[in-house]
Amino acid sequence: MTDSTASAPGLAPRTVLVTGGAGFVGSALVRHLIGRTAHRVVTVDALTYAGDLRVLAGLADHPRHSFEHVDVCDGPALTEVVRRHRPGAVVHLAAESHVDRSIDAPAAFVRTNVVGTATLLDVVRTWLDGDGAGHRESFRLVHVSTDEVYGDLPLTGPERFHEGSPYAPHSPYAASKAASDHFVRAWSHTYGVPAIVTHGTNTYGPWQFPEKLIPVVVLRALAGEPIPLYGAGTNVRDWIHVDDHARALAAVLDRGVVGETYDIGARCEKTNLEVVRAVCGLLDELAPAPSGRPYADLVTFVDDRPGHDRRYATDPSAVERAVGWRPEVTWGAGLRDTVAWFVAHETWCRERLSRT
Ligand SMILES: NC(=O)c1ccc[n+]([C@@H]2O[C@H](COP(=O)([O-])OP(=O)(O)OC[C@H]3O[C@@H](n4cnc5c(N)ncnc54)[C@H](O)[C@@H]3O)[C@@H](O)[C@H]2O)c1
Repeated sequence: MTDSTASAPGLAPRTVLVTGGAGFVGSALVRHLIGRTAHRVVTVDALTYAGDLRVLAGLADHPRHSFEHVDVCDGPALTEVVRRHRPGAVVHLAAESHVDRSIDAPAAFVRTNVVGTATLLDVVRTWLDGDGAGHRESFRLVHVSTDEVYGDLPLTGPERFHEGSPYAPHSPYAASKAASDHFVRAWSHTYGVPAIVTHGTNTYGPWQFPEKLIPVVVLRALAGEPIPLYGAGTNVRDWIHVDDHARALAAVLDRGVVGETYDIGARCEKTNLEVVRAVCGLLDELAPAPSGRPYADLVTFVDDRPGHDRRYATDPSAVERAVGWRPEVTWGAGLRDTVAWFVAHETWCRERLSRT
């Protein structure tokens, strides 16, 4: 990962708790903080089906990294972690993150995303009011949320989500993240917890749990199975590479203004059909089907999911101005690397899926 932000003035080196650091975006952030900054990192993760310590391979024995196997809903365990590590910042990514799962079984999303966030906030508040009072002035809590809290946009048109867009979450996942945003702001306003909220767009890249669109297409194609596409595939998502998302979070941690919200995206809108076709085209090149037929022949249109948002698109101008971050990974290069990575890690993917 290249780094354009580490040399700019920012927070003094400190201990950063990264919740959900054994997941997809969290692990990219942990790798970035260890590799490109002087911060110490404590990864806090419950290792649900979506967490895997192998995503942090190479950091296990790093002198500035440690791991705590803790559920964010467990207040006493979190309190103990905070007491021992005395963090100067928290970046909160631990969450249930898959929209389809939230439609099938929303309770886990309420538990982790809402109750877990409120639990973490209260542990931080209690600590900053007590033993951690000396940290209060420079403390940061970055709450990592999603543009899905804004609902959706018309399929075409110039509108984009921005920090002032009204909340209108549609899926249980989006509703749980919206609720968590409100709790963060409430703890910030009421108790003075110094917090910043980010809304990232659809993130892609290596180590993503293989239930999400791009790895699903790769795995289905390699197995010669139908590649399901919801509706007509016209829904639009705004994509950002995981390394860009991680660098943005690190920049917000270092230079974001307490009380602010930042919408993080890379101005990269694609229909789901465009994404699937692009992945199939790359696979034709990187791992041609034994039959010689194009993988796109496997695409099968299936009934749309309930309440499927039409379009997400985010204007990242504010975060670019505020913290001097810019996306660096182009869609073409990022997608090629990602598809090649999933082809090379097919066994890892299938093993992860077999455990769910
Ligand atoms: N992936 C995206 O496209 C995207 C986009 C915008 C925002 N986000 C946000 O970024 C965060 C991380 O997303 P991701 O895609 O990396 O998710 P992920 O599912 O890959 O990882 C989530 C991590 O949280 C851990 N976790 C789950 N429940 C926990 C609990 N109760 N206590 C402690 N740890 C727990 C899991 O073990 C896992 O390691 C989420 O908050 C998500 O809302 C993700």
